[in-house]
Amino acid sequence: MNIAVLGAQWGDEGKGKIVDLLTPSFSIVARYQGGHNAGHTVYVQGQKFVLHLIPSGILHPGITCIIGNGLVIDPQALFAEVDQLASLGVAVGDRLVISNKAHLILPYHRELDLLSEARRGDRKIGTTSRGIGPAYEDKIARRGVRVGDLAEVASETPLADAVRENVEARNRLIGGAAMDWRRVLDHLRTAWVRLKPWVKDVSLYLAEARRAGRAVLYEGAQGTLLDIDHGTYPFVTSSNATIGGVCTGLDVGPRAGDGVLGVGRACTTRGREGPLPTELNDEIGTRLRESGQEYGASTGRPRRCGWYDAVAVRYAVRVNGVDALALTKLDVLDGLDEIQICTAYCCNGTTLAEFPGDLGQLAACTPVYESVPGWCVPTKGARRFSDLPEGAQRYIRRLEEVTGVPTGIISTGSDRDETIIREESVVPRWLR
Ligand code: IMP
Repeated sequence: MNIAVLGAQWGDEGKGKIVDLLTPSFSIVARYQGGHNAGHTVYVQGQKFVLHLIPSGILHPGITCIIGNGLVIDPQALFAEVDQLASLGVAVGDRLVISNKAHLILPYHRELDLLSEARRGDRKIGTTSRGIGPAYEDKIARRGVRVGDLAEVASETPLADAVRENVEARNRLIGGAAMDWRRVLDHLRTAWVRLKPWVKDVSLYLAEARRAGRAVLYEGAQGTLLDIDHGTYPFVTSSNATIGGVCTGLDVGPRAGDGVLGVGRACTTRGREGPLPTELNDEIGTRLRESGQEYGASTGRPRRCGWYDAVAVRYAVRVNGVDALALTKLDVLDGLDEIQICTAYCCNGTTLAEFPGDLGQLAACTPVYESVPGWCVPTKGARRFSDLPEGAQRYIRRLEEVTGVPTGIISTGSDRDETIIREESVVPRWLR
């Protein structure tokens, strides 16, 4: 079975932990979009690993990890991650495969990201400042540099022309010291020496792997509501974090997957900017942030927190064809007397059951809450659904009713072991 694991909220749902947990059932873990804006945190026996570009499956020996054409790669960030893993005892070696069609983040992309945010002023996106948006802009404008293009460094013709034109455009746009395109080319020449052994035709690699019966886990980054097409545009990232990204970002057909697991937290979080209908600007919001340690894994910035938004998750279920959900950070709700679930929005006196596509309409929406009793017994460390306090079981069952999909995995702490994989028949067979 080949399955996709993707975010059902605004990113930071805990996908890294879920991918790491499921990896032993697969032979390959493949990322299909984004870049080092992602921060997938995995704890293994108390040791913390934060992965940005490399799929979370790398922590398991023998697993091949793929970086698909849908990603944008900053070579220096990649090398730093490989070196960091090595220092923690994880050898990447030849287990990494990088698509020759993935685009590169070059030094001017980060500068352009900062410039674009500064120019937007109050309307800024709150990007991770990694150059992600500008690299995707160059891709769409057909002036980007792809990993496979670096093979031409020796002959120095089309690649050198592209780099020169892009750097000259950057110099016209940005004041201060001009960037030297030859230095950028040198930097690419050096990067290629290290990248080359990992670079392959990923479409072919995956087709052969699947013919050989190797199971693939497709790993999403960010989340549905941050998707360039389906998220809260323009407060989104620049790639397709939703299911369609698997096909376009890994060069595979629509029948390459057998199931979709959406990951969502027991409370909702999002970065600094953009709409978050259930945001709590009170002591409960602060409590959720502190107990969940809600600070960006890539940026360290505090996240905004709010109640579970079933309208947003239902939308993610629809857009991605989600078969089951993984519910993470349930323990963050431990000890609350009462918990709210947003089941609908109220918009100018009308009840909305579905997530609006229009940002103006979304801004006019207020959450319609349903209150459920909390629980005082800690959920942390529970191994079976029946071990959970009754209040927590009721909360999860109610979430299943309002989202329309079963909860197959429940995470009650950061470590691998602090997880429940449900075996009830409501859960898809590929999860049991
Ligand atoms: P960019 O991807 O750096 O361009 O940022 C665009 C938006 O996506 C900003 O609101 C970021 O905070 C958000 N974002 C990007 N990556 C992540 C992530 O991995 N988790 C949560 N938010 C993210």
